[in-house]
Amino acid sequence: MSQERQKQAAAEAAVDYVAAHLEAGAALGVGTGSTVNFFIDALSPLKEQLGGAIASSEATRQRLAKLGIPLLDLNDIDRLAIYVDGADEIDHDFAMIKGGGGALTREKIIAAAADVFVCIADAGKRVDRLGNFPLPVEVIPLAKRLVAGQLTALGGRPLLREGFVTDNGNLILDVAGLSIHDPQALEATINQITGVVCNGLFAARGADILLLGTENGVLTCAPPAATLRR
Ligand code: 5RP
Repeated sequence: MSQERQKQAAAEAAVDYVAAHLEAGAALGVGTGSTVNFFIDALSPLKEQLGGAIASSEATRQRLAKLGIPLLDLNDIDRLAIYVDGADEIDHDFAMIKGGGGALTREKIIAAAADVFVCIADAGKRVDRLGNFPLPVEVIPLAKRLVAGQLTALGGRPLLREGFVTDNGNLILDVAGLSIHDPQALEATINQITGVVCNGLFAARGADILLLGTENGVLTCAPPAATLRR
């Protein structure tokens, strides 16, 4: 099965998950990226079930709007039961690197608000240790150089994502070379750097369920029982 087909199969499994678990009329959180695009494209049959969607990016908002799914503001809802999103890497504790699409800050906010984070990914995203994929860090433009220096001091090689501005009007530094032995600790450390808006480590709040597209179909995986969330 090709990588694209694995993404699509995982996305379709997520639609089944939502159909089975989301109460009628409830809101659904929707992430960003090519795997999520497959998910959105398969959402039509659930249009009547959904109370609306919380979009993690302008691109996702536009795709959902084309489908006629009502868009909601996170500030206007009491509860968000399910958030579906992709990942650039996911480890065995379901900590992730995200932000390849540059939507990491809104993604992290929606993930923090959701009861259940369903990660959808192709088999290539599953890793033993995070860090082969450069870590995206969203930065206030004024602080670009200051933050790049601090990330270098942490052992990383920050590279400005050229020609890219986030939906929040900020820049992205993609940081290669970090050794990520303790994802939660590094997530907290990078968040403490003045000028950082958010970093793409999703470890303090990782995924709860992984729907992994593989050569042999979609695996439904749960994190180890010892992994403590929130
Ligand atoms: C966007 C993300 C995406 O979830 C991540 O980049 C995976 O993307 P894709 O599904 O295209 O492989 O974090 O900010």
